[in-house]
Formats: sequence, structure tokens, C-alpha cells
Amino acid sequence: MCNARISVPPSFLSFNLPKIYSFFILSKFAILVTIFSVVGSSESRADNECDCGWRNLASKSFQIVGGNETGINEFPAMVGIVSFSTKSLVCGGHIISDRYLLSAAHCVQKDPNELAILAGDHNITSGDDTLYSVLYNIKAYEIYPDYDNSIYSNDIAILQTTKSIAFSQYVASICLPFKYVDYDFSSQPVIVLGWGQLEFSGPTSDVLMMASLNVLSNDECSIIVSEALVPEEMCTFASGKDSCQLDSGGPLLWTDVVANRMHLVGIISHGLGCASNEPSVNTRVTQFLSWIVEITSDATYCYM
Ligand SMILES: *[C@@H]1O[C@H](CO)[C@@H](O)[C@H](O)[C@H]1NC(C)=O
Ligand SMILES: *[C@@H]1O[C@H](CO)[C@@H](O)[C@H](O)[C@H]1NC(C)=O
Repeated sequence: MCNARISVPPSFLSFNLPKIYSFFILSKFAILVTIFSVVGSSESRADNECDCGWRNLASKSFQIVGGNETGINEFPAMVGIVSFSTKSLVCGGHIISDRYLLSAAHCVQKDPNELAILAGDHNITSGDDTLYSVLYNIKAYEIYPDYDNSIYSNDIAILQTTKSIAFSQYVASICLPFKYVDYDFSSQPVIVLGWGQLEFSGPTSDVLMMASLNVLSNDECSIIVSEALVPEEMCTFASGKDSCQLDSGGPLLWTDVVANRMHLVGIISHGLGCASNEPSVNTRVTQFLSWIVEITSDATYCYM
């Protein structure tokens, strides 16, 4: 397992990042406004290294459990994690820079040469539904050191591609929630994405699906699942809707409605069945930001 690690710089670089600032005064009540269809503006994005988290509301607009099909390339940071040995899509992931992605630790525990990511795709059985679909090999990955395989705690991994991901309007980074480290996102809507099962142990989807779920506070969730949640976890719930098997590693996207940007606030980790009456448990990204910055010290992030 050690040969799969990304080399870590000797010094711990705590938040030296915001290289490009873009401040917005965000009042607390503004984020309470629930907005679901957000469109980023569509000027050329490719040359702007520091841009992230827009959504392409696509021509083909409008089924995860109880979800809907996304538009083609509507979510530019979404990737599928592909296993060469099983020749199948095993998990979801999300692009955070042109060389790095986040996914769940339990998605990657194998030789990195066995793994690739499929960026820019929509219908995974069709080669010609988008012009932006590219497969990138994985050079290495780093699993969070305290990941516990038996209880899926700290279920997060950083993947590094062998070459730079070609960015465009349709393939790009998500924003990381640097500005929202103090938010717990309770009661906020988040979008989950995946090519996973449409029902528990059911068929998977050809096309990327989305669902909107609500974040439960850890206190509320602890009562429902009758176990104490740790701060590194985040619960989501919506009646009849869920992230399901094979959706692991995929994103929980929260939209800052003032800046009009989507932020990766959670990573789909585990749950009990799909769309059962129990919430799902996800990895809370804000708890891992300094680790992400440390491991990806050669990446540039926006502070949006
Ligand atoms: C799917 O789309 C329908 C109609 O557009 C909408 O009413 C419903 O809330 C959507 N479901 C999800 C999970 O977003
Ligand atoms: C995905 O593409 C295949 C092959 O073109 C097609 O048969 C299938 O209907 C598509 N799936 C959806 C949900 O559009």
C-alpha cells in the first residue's frame, strides 16, 4: 500500500493557499435561500486557472434513487473511477485541480495502475454523446492516514493523474469550501451525483444522475442512527432519495447562492441500503482541507 502514496512535502503547509482571492460578503441568511438551478455564466473558462464550481445547464435537461438525469456535462468536475481489472465503473470522484481528485478511500484500495478516471462523460455506454470524455490514468493516490476500513471513518482519498486534465467549460474543478470551514451545512440542500444503482441491488445507470438531499446536523443524525457521529462525518437525508452503491466517492455539492458557485462539501461514503429511512453518512470535506492542501502542495486553488 505504501508504494501508492503521493510524496508528501516535509513541511506542513497550513493554508498558505488562497493564491487568488475573490471575496464575497455572505450574510448568513443569504445561504438559507434554497436555490437549485444555478447557472454559471458561460464565458470561456479554460484560460482562467482560478475558476471553479460552475454548472452548465444543458440542452438535454431533464432518474441515483428518486433522482433525475443530469444534463450532458452539467457538472464539469464529475468523474467516474474505472477499474481496468473489472472493466467497469466502480465509484465516483470529483476534480479539485488539473492533477488531483477527491474520492472515498474505500474506492481506491488497489494498485493505482489498475485505476483510471473518466472525465467529461455522461452516458458511460456511449462513446459519442459528449466530445469531452477522456480517460486519465492514475499515478498515485493518498488515503487519509486515519481511514478505518472496518467502520469507514475518514473515508477520503486524493488521486493524482499521470497527466494534466484538459480543462474547458465542460471539464473543470469544483470549489473547495475554504470560505466555509465554520459552516456545518445543517438543513442545507446538497446535490449528489452518480452512475450508481437506481435502487438497492438494482441495475446501475448508463447516464449520470442527480438528487437533491438535505444535510442533517450531526446531533440530529446521531439520534436517528443511534450512534455518535464524529465531526468528520456529515449525514444526508431525503425521503425516497439517496446515494446508492457505486455512488461512493461521488460528491455532495453545496451551492453558495451569492457567489453562485458549487462547493464540494461531502464525499459519499456509506449508508444502510438505499433510500431506507436511515440517513446516509458522508465524509465532511471541511475537516480535511489542510490535509488536502498539504498533499497537493503543487496545486492552485481558488478561494471563492
Ligand atoms: C426531478 O425532476 C422533477 C421535475 O423536474 C422534480 O420535481 C424533482 O424534484 C426532481 N427530483 C430530484 C431528486 O431532484
Ligand atoms: C446510453 O447509450 C446507449 C448506446 O448509445 C443507449 O442504447 C442508451 O439508451 C443510452 N442510455 C440512456 C439512459 O439514454
